[in-house]
Amino acid sequence: MTAPILVTGGTGNIGRRVVPLLRAAGRDVRILTRHPRADMPGIQHVEGDTVAGRGLTAALDGVEVVLHLAGGAKGDDIAAGNLAAAARAGGIRHLLLISVIGADRMPIGYFRAKAEAERAIMESGVPWTVLRAAQLHDFVFPVVKAMAALPLTPAPRGLRFEPVDGDEVAARLAELTLGSPAGRVRDLAGPDVLDIRDLVAAFNEPRGRRRRTMPFPLPGAVGRAYAVGDNLAGEDAQRGTRAWAEYLAGRAAVPAAAR
Ligand SMILES: NC(=O)c1ccc[n+]([C@@H]2O[C@H](COP(=O)([O-])OP(=O)(O)OC[C@H]3O[C@@H](n4cnc5c(N)ncnc54)[C@H](OP(=O)(O)O)[C@@H]3O)[C@@H](O)[C@H]2O)c1
Repeated sequence: MTAPILVTGGTGNIGRRVVPLLRAAGRDVRILTRHPRADMPGIQHVEGDTVAGRGLTAALDGVEVVLHLAGGAKGDDIAAGNLAAAARAGGIRHLLLISVIGADRMPIGYFRAKAEAERAIMESGVPWTVLRAAQLHDFVFPVVKAMAALPLTPAPRGLRFEPVDGDEVAARLAELTLGSPAGRVRDLAGPDVLDIRDLVAAFNEPRGRRRRTMPFPLPGAVGRAYAVGDNLAGEDAQRGTRAWAEYLAGRAAVPAAAR
């Protein structure tokens, strides 16, 4: 019998896609969550909180590989520090972290916390892998939908995204989790870099809507960082294949309220 893989954040958007892939590879999975739910064959839930540092030692018992996906608007640095310490104490053999492209460049608290989280994992003394991903289509979608509803589309100058498909990120994470510690691997972004106006226009076009745009400069350090593309992957990034337009077309199959 092989040791279970601990997945923090296994209940989240990305985690829900990774867990079945690990199961399909024949691995048992233990999910750390603040809200445990019923176990399923090969999937155990344990209660814990990465930010509070609660339940980590018990969750790591008998585990060799940890995929750390749990995250939120705040506290990702603290959570990673707590997990790194527990992983070191628990003799974990491979600790993986999902981070975000631009973690060390964007002057925004969420990104800074991710950079600190990376540091905690890299300096943990546990063999590690870190994958930086772009924003998922699912993450960009509600922002674009809200902007598209406005009669005049606000278009911060230079604001670009390269949204990536959740299934493609999950597949890469599963591959890395089943492999050996690989250090900082190539960033994973979507196939296209799209200006915010293009993202909104692609949403509006199938609905027969035309909107005028209202370009304006994003102020301050954040505006400058977006303008120079500090949130974007470099040329050596790995690129997913599912494009924004394809993702939007796929949503046509979901209930109207969610489109
Ligand atoms: N979505 C994106 O566009 C994107 C892009 C790049 C990187 N990432 C990173 O990828 C990770 C997963 O993203 P996601 O979109 O799947 O997030 P999500 O859907 O919001 O899910 C968040 C997950 O984190 C868990 N969690 C949050 N705080 C926790 C805590 N204090 N203790 C234990 N578990 C906690 C939640 O578990 P429970 O609620 O069950 O406790 C949930 O499973 C995050 O670290 C995020 O920063 C996301």
